[in-house]
Amino acid sequence: DALSNISGKTTTKYVGAAVNEGFFDDAHYKETSSDYYNLVTAENSCKFSAVQKTQGTFDFASCDQVAQFAEDNDMAFRGHNTCWGVYNPSWLDNGNFTSSDFVGILENHVTTVLDHYQGKAVAWDIVNEAISDSAPYDFKANTWNNITADADGINTNYIDVAFRAARKADPNAKLFYNDYNVASSQGWSQGKSDAMYNMVKSMLDRGVPIDGVGLQMHVGTGYDLVDGVIANMERYGALGLEVHITELDLVCSQKNGYDCVWSDDMEQQQGELYATLLKACLDTDACTNFETWGFTDAHSWLEDGTHPLPFDENYNQKKAVGSMLDILTGY
Ligand code: G3I
Repeated sequence: DALSNISGKTTTKYVGAAVNEGFFDDAHYKETSSDYYNLVTAENSCKFSAVQKTQGTFDFASCDQVAQFAEDNDMAFRGHNTCWGVYNPSWLDNGNFTSSDFVGILENHVTTVLDHYQGKAVAWDIVNEAISDSAPYDFKANTWNNITADADGINTNYIDVAFRAARKADPNAKLFYNDYNVASSQGWSQGKSDAMYNMVKSMLDRGVPIDGVGLQMHVGTGYDLVDGVIANMERYGALGLEVHITELDLVCSQKNGYDCVWSDDMEQQQGELYATLLKACLDTDACTNFETWGFTDAHSWLEDGTHPLPFDENYNQKKAVGSMLDILTGY
């Protein structure tokens, strides 16, 4: 049984994982991802710094490897990302550019990337992580914020510029705004979550093209805001938008005041939470993608020993896999 090999209602939803082409020479890595998932995202190789390391020179070799892997295995390919305020090449951050230069650079990047993947990417994170982490949740200070409003008021900020360019370049790709600490509209994440909802609603009111939102969900084994995640997904659905859970991982960490000790019980608890969140996506019409940030504990952006993903370091199924398969069987 594979997570992607599902019947009935769930065949309309993606169950995906981020992958890193750097590990494609490991057959086990490739087989596990293609056996269990029906969508992949490149963890790093489609980002601005990977694709346009030198101004005006586009290098799609690594990003193409992931798109090709998806195509070869009948998986969907989800693009991440065209515009982010951090990890950009130094020519971009340190260049002596005006607002209109930045508009040109951003439009050129978004257009070239979406054009290259026309018909290959089902969705793109057009803008990633623009919103600040504390009240009043305004836009983070970054390079792209040097873009100021158009004189004619068509574009009021860099986010508008990026989304308008994307729709023009590929009218069929679904365009997403993606962020973290925004998954639940209740509890500790309510403030940033409401800010994102308001930002997206205002984009729709202004006629800025957007098709969905990505809820990253880098949370932990003790996450307990699932009702708020469902309520949040539903309010985006009411706006006519899709929701992708894009970067789920459930860390077990003893840092930052979070006292998690890994054990069989903890693995069980983690597995149940993975299944609960999968069920929340399957039960909510607006949710169309359930995706983890990697799939094996051997390769995660999180620290070794924090066990965040559904497969262990040796690609063995952890309890999460069985729990998720049980949920899928019920659909
Ligand atoms: O590949 C080089 C290696 O050659 C070099 O020796 C080493 C030295 O630092 O760096 C390696 O590159 C690192 C790359 O990951 C590959 O491991 C970069 O420094 C490092 O910055 C990069 O981090 C990635 C990060 O985004 C920044 O792009 C993480 O892998 C990736 O998991 C993380 O993903 C983000 C999402 O895009 C957005 N949401 C949050 C998420 C987690 O931070």
